[in-house]
Amino acid sequence: MSVFKKMLVMAIIAITVSCQKSNEDIIFTENDIAVIPKPAKLLLNKGAFQFDENTKFILAAASQEELTSVLIDKFKNVSGWDLDVLEQTPKENYVQFIIDENLDDEAYKLNVNSNRVLITSKGDAGFIYGIETLRQLLPVAIESSNSVSGTDWFIPNLTIEDQPRYKYRGLMLDVSRHFFEIEYLKKTIDRLAMLKMNVLHLHLVDDQGWRIEIKKYPKLTEVGAWRVDQEDKHWDGRYTTSADEKGTYGGFYTQDELKDLVAYAATKNIEIIPEIEMPAHVSSAIAAYPELSCHEKPIGVPSGGVWPITDIYCAGKENTFEFLENVLEEVMEIFPSKYIHVGGDEATKTNWKKCPDCNKRMRSENLENVEELQSYFIKRMESFINSKGKRLIGWDEILEGGIAPEATVMSWRGTKGGLEAAKQGHDVIMTPGSHCYFDHYQGPQNEEPLAWGGYTPLSKVYTFDPVVEGMTAAEAKHVLGGQANLWSEQIKTTSHSEYMIFPRLAALSETLWSTKESRNWEDFSTRIVTMFGRYDYLNINYAKSAYLVMEDVKIDMDTKKVTLALNNEFTDADIRYTLNDAKLTDAAVKYTEPLIINESTEVHASLFKNDVPVGVPFNTTIKFHKAVGKKVTFKEIYDDRYQGEGEFGMVNTLRATKNYTDGHWQAWLGKDMEAVVDLGEATSIKEVVVGTLENQGPGIYFPTAVKVSVSKDGKNYTEVGVEKRAFAKNPSFDLKEFKVSFEEQSVRYVKVFAKNLSKTPEGGKVWLFVDEIIIN
Ligand code: ACM
Ligand code: ZN
Repeated sequence: MSVFKKMLVMAIIAITVSCQKSNEDIIFTENDIAVIPKPAKLLLNKGAFQFDENTKFILAAASQEELTSVLIDKFKNVSGWDLDVLEQTPKENYVQFIIDENLDDEAYKLNVNSNRVLITSKGDAGFIYGIETLRQLLPVAIESSNSVSGTDWFIPNLTIEDQPRYKYRGLMLDVSRHFFEIEYLKKTIDRLAMLKMNVLHLHLVDDQGWRIEIKKYPKLTEVGAWRVDQEDKHWDGRYTTSADEKGTYGGFYTQDELKDLVAYAATKNIEIIPEIEMPAHVSSAIAAYPELSCHEKPIGVPSGGVWPITDIYCAGKENTFEFLENVLEEVMEIFPSKYIHVGGDEATKTNWKKCPDCNKRMRSENLENVEELQSYFIKRMESFINSKGKRLIGWDEILEGGIAPEATVMSWRGTKGGLEAAKQGHDVIMTPGSHCYFDHYQGPQNEEPLAWGGYTPLSKVYTFDPVVEGMTAAEAKHVLGGQANLWSEQIKTTSHSEYMIFPRLAALSETLWSTKESRNWEDFSTRIVTMFGRYDYLNINYAKSAYLVMEDVKIDMDTKKVTLALNNEFTDADIRYTLNDAKLTDAAVKYTEPLIINESTEVHASLFKNDVPVGVPFNTTIKFHKAVGKKVTFKEIYDDRYQGEGEFGMVNTLRATKNYTDGHWQAWLGKDMEAVVDLGEATSIKEVVVGTLENQGPGIYFPTAVKVSVSKDGKNYTEVGVEKRAFAKNPSFDLKEFKVSFEEQSVRYVKVFAKNLSKTPEGGKVWLFVDEIIIN
């Protein structure tokens, strides 16, 4: 090679090298970091560390190899690399675990520079969380189960010092009302660990299914795990089965399966707390062993809702306690958890009042009433549990009649019970329905799958705080943390279960892990979008309800102007809308302030991201009609509990939704509705439309007929039409408009009569829900 040529080659090499971006030059910004829950302290530096096929993992102990698998398996998926675990620290390009005995159990430090990553912790819990944080610092494509090309696996140079705010961070899965396979529980454990949650509470026993093998009492699963399949019906519309009908729907976990699950959870720093309900929510056990109840009569495993719950364990017979101690012995063999949850909720004690054994017990133990008998029951179980070196948890009903001396209270009926327990010096786990019940709706009810009522959207979960106002510092110390509860009456599939859990669990995890000072919805709502990207790769059927546009509609009855405000959970959301026939895709206008509407108008809206509509579009029609703002009188006024918007509620253009508690409905219990609308002057009309609701679970049925009569003088009425609808079983919940059309005529008074079904098939009183009365 000539000297000239050599110089040319060297020049080219130099140019190539200087063009290649060094890891030191890569700049990440705060906005690139979307870790959930947000780390306690994070200091971002210039530059980045790049994972490649030569990156090594260096452990602090041989037993930690499993902890690295979360990342090593992911790199195998996306790049085909098989990253090594070494004993010797190489010069560079490694992730090293370092022990620091001075850190708290779950705390960890992460120190990343362009040469290496150090994770420091006291033990496995911190290393697990350090790895999970690394995972969330990597591009979302790391979650892919297929190979990924064109992505460089950089993470920013930074230091993180992180530890949880609360030591108890849980999720309860109800596997009794519907049974979920072990595989799903394992997936859920992975997803809990990703959010640094550390408890899976398994609700293993309830009326509708006993889910844990107990070798001493095989009928608990032979009989108690199976019910008659009535899944085609609404939970509360299922008939009461008898003891001689064979159950075919259900399932249970063997002890081996559960032991394997416990071991799996431990590798993710998750403790499984078993809940063995008592004295109520145990029809499944009584179906297997009727002698456990006061009356000892055979019953079937209920296929659906049971209320009130009167088939409960007898508190008088010694057999009951012998049975429960034997059951718990086996349970404690499977679950090494510090806590055993004994339920304790919602026991209706009418049988105890009548039962000779229970009465004898009350006399011999000097108990004043059945509440004290329940307290005796739980205290006795607590002594047994304590004698095995474990602690008892119960729902907040265990406060009634006197709490057991060492018990931890799980506060679900709000936070009152938790506050009371803390005042009495007891530990508390907060799970108030208002923020922690994930069986509630999370978006506009008309758009969501059937839920159990309540409204707990993502942004509300994010405001959860387990320490409540009015707690002293000493009381607050008793608050161990919080937990989301997913009751599964309405949830039959894993994809529906995922839908209810995610993304709300991500919000909850931040309320339990991150500092209170760092709580910031706007910031979280950008990070959650990155998490959605991970969930997409992981095939998690997370709810996109937070993307829905919601309305807030008001009418000024003096001016008859409707104000329609559009909103969304995300702060500064880009909502765009069109009116009437205009298509959202071409004509949408950015929403900036409430719309004033004074004629019938269709409104279409959507959240936009990057100029494209996302999520389910929002559509509503504000319908002005001839009755708007007119005087309505009822033969019998609506029920106090469902007054709608009062005087003009039926004639204000604001339409009720499928949610019967949305504040729009006016309702009558066991009665017909007869309403007269006074149009004020002779008015030409030809149609009356009446909006109604059916939700048979809580006893709301469509009217069996809607009849319309008209009058010029308010005295003499002429019937102009009727629409009838025969009763039919309906497991869903639906809106229906009854429409009566007639020859156009000039009248002043319109009488609308809606016929109540009168009695439910079970003989109960029927609710009639109406909104609105539209006259055209
Ligand atoms: C409960 O929701 N019954 C604890
Ligand atoms: Zn009894």
